[in-house]
Amino acid sequence: MKVKILTLYPEIFPGFLGFSLTGKALAEGKWSLEVVNIRDFATDKYGSVDDTPCGGGAGMVMRADILGSAIEASHQGGKLIYMTPKGKPLTQAKLHELAKEPELTIVCNRFEGVDERIIEVYQPDEISIGDYVLTGGEQAAMIMLDGVIRLLGGVLGNNESAQDESFEHGLLEYPQYTRPIEWKGMKVPDVLLSGHHANIEKWRKEQSLKITETKRPDLFKKYLDLKKV
Ligand code: ADE
Repeated sequence: MKVKILTLYPEIFPGFLGFSLTGKALAEGKWSLEVVNIRDFATDKYGSVDDTPCGGGAGMVMRADILGSAIEASHQGGKLIYMTPKGKPLTQAKLHELAKEPELTIVCNRFEGVDERIIEVYQPDEISIGDYVLTGGEQAAMIMLDGVIRLLGGVLGNNESAQDESFEHGLLEYPQYTRPIEWKGMKVPDVLLSGHHANIEKWRKEQSLKITETKRPDLFKKYLDLKKV
């Protein structure tokens, strides 16, 4: 997968994506990273990229002409994404969809956002990583990319390991244990030591349902609604 990032802070990348599984996958060429500095498309000697909002109000807005030039110079194919708290909330299903794309071009917001005409002209996929506001889209883009890259073929050591985890079946993952078998007077549940695969699977499903109902009643309701249809 080819990833292009449009940002005013190119030094932020690859950041934590250069470590662990995502870093190894980058070194192995399972994904590539091109970082484009939006400021390189500024047209005045000060390198201005933003201006005050029309109609007044706090903050600055990224100029459509400058960002438009950066997008047109970089976005040659694949999906165009704009990270914004106004976007659709990111989900595991969306990560799977993005992991199928050959190329992602990601625009990172700063300031009060970008001139609305950018959205109208380029119609990017607007994505939010949650209902809270960060200082910029870079952090959001990195979190989204971390989730996408681990789903690319051959990135996770064991191809099974993405299958049972939280959200993959609309439920949170069951609890995990390892040695020591007894710690602070607490024992690993007997069923996990039984070697009885059908019972273990049954126990894990029950636990998944219980944990999801308690911790994420919203997810649990969605899961039950989906089961009904
Ligand atoms: N930029 C600032 N906050 C954001 C968020 N929650 N999601 C995506 N991009 C953002």
